[in-house]
Amino acid sequence: MLSLNILLNCFLALSLNVNAAAILKRDDDQNNYIYANLTDSDNSFLIDLSVGSDSQNVSVIVDTGSSDLWFPSNDNPYCQNSSSNTTEISSDDQIDCSEYYSFNPSNSDTFHKNGTEFKGEYGDDVIADGYYGQDSISIAGSDLPTVNFAVSNLTNSTYGHLGLGYPIMEAAENVTSDYEYTTFLQQLVDDGKILQPAYSLYLNPDAPKILFGAIDKKKINGPLYELYIVPTQLINGDDVGTLTNIAISMNHLSYMNGDNTNVIGGGYYPVVLNSALDYHVFPKDFVDAISQSLNLEYSEEDYYYIDCSEIQEGNFLIAFQGAEFDVPATSFFQEIVNEDNRGTGVCYFNVEQTDNEFITMGSQFLQNFYTVVNLHQNKIGLAYAAEANDEDIEVIENDIGDTVYPEYDDHYGKGHSTFSFFDHETLSFSETASYSAPAQTASSTTSTRNVGAVAQKSTSLSFIAILFSLLV
Ligand SMILES: *[C@@H]1O[C@H](CO)[C@@H](O)[C@H](O)[C@H]1NC(C)=O
Ligand SMILES: *[C@@H]1O[C@H](CO)[C@@H](O)[C@H](O)[C@H]1NC(C)=O
Ligand SMILES: *[C@@H]1O[C@H](CO)[C@@H](O)[C@H](O)[C@H]1NC(C)=O
Ligand SMILES: *[C@@H]1O[C@H](CO)[C@@H](O)[C@H](O)[C@H]1NC(C)=O
Ligand SMILES: *[C@@H]1O[C@H](CO)[C@@H](O)[C@H](O)[C@H]1NC(C)=O
Ligand SMILES: *[C@@H]1O[C@H](CO)[C@@H](O)[C@H](O)[C@H]1NC(C)=O
Ligand SMILES: *[C@@H]1O[C@H](CO)[C@@H](O)[C@H](O)[C@H]1NC(C)=O
Ligand SMILES: *[C@@H]1O[C@H](CO)[C@@H](O)[C@H](O)[C@H]1NC(C)=O
Repeated sequence: MLSLNILLNCFLALSLNVNAAAILKRDDDQNNYIYANLTDSDNSFLIDLSVGSDSQNVSVIVDTGSSDLWFPSNDNPYCQNSSSNTTEISSDDQIDCSEYYSFNPSNSDTFHKNGTEFKGEYGDDVIADGYYGQDSISIAGSDLPTVNFAVSNLTNSTYGHLGLGYPIMEAAENVTSDYEYTTFLQQLVDDGKILQPAYSLYLNPDAPKILFGAIDKKKINGPLYELYIVPTQLINGDDVGTLTNIAISMNHLSYMNGDNTNVIGGGYYPVVLNSALDYHVFPKDFVDAISQSLNLEYSEEDYYYIDCSEIQEGNFLIAFQGAEFDVPATSFFQEIVNEDNRGTGVCYFNVEQTDNEFITMGSQFLQNFYTVVNLHQNKIGLAYAAEANDEDIEVIENDIGDTVYPEYDDHYGKGHSTFSFFDHETLSFSETASYSAPAQTASSTTSTRNVGAVAQKSTSLSFIAILFSLLV
């Protein structure tokens, strides 16, 4: 518990900086932030952009899991009312392209087609092919004269995306490796709209918002933890993988329901935060361990389910780099509805299984949080989201401000211990059940330690601290 004093001191020191920053800001005619309202469409969060010389209003999904801004074009043959139905697309596969979700490049005098091919792939098998170009875009009243984006003239996605990840994830990288262009987020910095390539996501379905370049402290409940973005691939067990995704590492997972705590596992595991997914993606070992811990039933139609009432009070305790959060179990389930759209009282596990070696948590998870992403610092700020209509905006000038640092040193990356699952039969972390990372290091020997004594009701940090001492 060495860090409690440090935490407190950090907190005080940062609070002072924050006040100084607030006073400085008042002299500045530029806000250095852009605050935009989002629209929740079934757990997809849409942002309105105005594109081109004729100010076409286009709504796209805010996507932390990709890096291109793109719009479906009005002549996408998947559209029911497409003007250019050249490809044979069965009526089952057609989508309803409302004019607010597509862009007509020929109506904008300022659109420049770039000549570079665009080939995007998104969760749930969505494809998006087309071409890159540039045009003016206005967002929440801020005008950007020249922005790179793609127009997809062949996509089975209703919505385009506003990709807010690292440039290395641009789809052009997949086609012509030497074409890396300025992303929308970087363009906001280059045009002097914000100071850092950073943004804060508030996905409260009642009033979702994105704040570019700043943090709204009123939307935060409790400490804002500052976490390192981690690679999803380790090379030789060291922390040298390139940062590609918006990912943080998880080092503990348990399930709590009433007085029962089921430790699911601990170690090191990358978790990608993807605001554009309305489900989650877990490797098989996690799906198995969770379904066992929660006593999920398996349906012949290939999904896990449970009586909704059994998870209503349940929480997952998840620690990211030592920062511990309770996440309602309902954030990982969806109620099955009947033909009249009425709930059946049965909930399915909203998780897809993958061979990837990282977890992906979608918008249903992020709705619980205020998430700050700073791509210059390679940091994530994570706090519980607060219900609040008022604002207290702090521009991100350097660090994610006013943050509390969890106890990284021993737990976040050192040696990158392998994530091990808790074996309920023998009350031990099981090595056989453990997930094996691309390369293992000598420090990852976590087997057969008896953790029965701590597998009780959690008392926050100390519980995690005991687990850490067992894990490292
Ligand atoms: C776009 O939306 C704005 C604000 O809602 C509105 O004023 C404008 O007329 C719209 N433009 C078009 C072309 O529909
Ligand atoms: C597009 O063409 C296919 C094949 O000719 C046809 O079955 C389909 O109905 C057409 N769609 C539209 C929107 O016209
Ligand atoms: C598409 O066509 C159908 C029938 O032809 C019509 O009812 C519908 O309003 C059209 N939708 C749009 C977005 O134009
Ligand atoms: C395409 O965009 C890139 C990046 O903005 C630019 O360097 C290049 O010149 C453009 N190519 C064409 C043909 O406009
Ligand atoms: C690039 O290609 C890889 C491998 O085919 C794929 O997993 C990834 O989704 C692609 N990236 C984009 C942005 O489409
Ligand atoms: C989109 O099209 C691709 C390629 O044809 C297909 O594999 C995928 O299942 C389609 N996805 C949806 C959601 O229709
Ligand atoms: C966002 O919504 C709030 C409350 O509905 C409203 O007061 C504000 O003007 C909106 N902001 C923008 C940029 O439209
Ligand atoms: C999409 O645009 C590209 C580049 O202009 C063109 O080669 C391709 O034929 C178009 N595809 C469709 C389906 O219109």
